[in-house]
Amino acid sequence: MSEVRPLRIGQGWDVHRIATGRKLILGGIEVPSEFGLEGHSDADVLSHAITDAILGAVALGDIGMHFPDTDPRWKGADSLVFLRHVCGLASEAGYRIVNVDSTVILERPKLKDFRLAIRESLAGCMGLPPDCVSVKFKTAERVGPVGEGRSAEAQAVVLLERI
Ligand code: C5P
Ligand code: MG
Repeated sequence: MSEVRPLRIGQGWDVHRIATGRKLILGGIEVPSEFGLEGHSDADVLSHAITDAILGAVALGDIGMHFPDTDPRWKGADSLVFLRHVCGLASEAGYRIVNVDSTVILERPKLKDFRLAIRESLAGCMGLPPDCVSVKFKTAERVGPVGEGRSAEAQAVVLLERI
């Protein structure tokens, strides 16, 4: 990195189609649901958004560049593997994560009872205390593809500090 700065910020966003016969995995936690998310990996939309936010903070491209969805190695992959890998890349670049804030936008099922499990799972993966990992949930008020139950989205922001 050309200029050493004490802080870096990154943003990530992801979307996956809803599909029957698939698991709903968010932050590495399987949430009981009649449907899940379509994708080459486990389609963990939340982990993907956080992974992209970390890559963004250190300007190292995006998740598809590091883990192409054409690569058979990542078929059905646990997305926490991607997240752990980019934490390592950030660390090699000389940065550690200060905190993560994220939002999952999904019409149903209700996710709030799984918030703590998801936060603990993500925090464990990133080597952070759970109070540094925020996960919020929103419906899309029945509007648009998310609101009509056709897709799920996630957004994330991450702050990194120089080690
Ligand atoms: O989107 P809305 O503002 O109606 O969400 C209300 C509450 O429902 C939020 O506090 C959120 O945590 C929760 N929620 C949830 N699961 C979802 C969407 C929202 O638990 N799929
Ligand atoms: Mg994705």
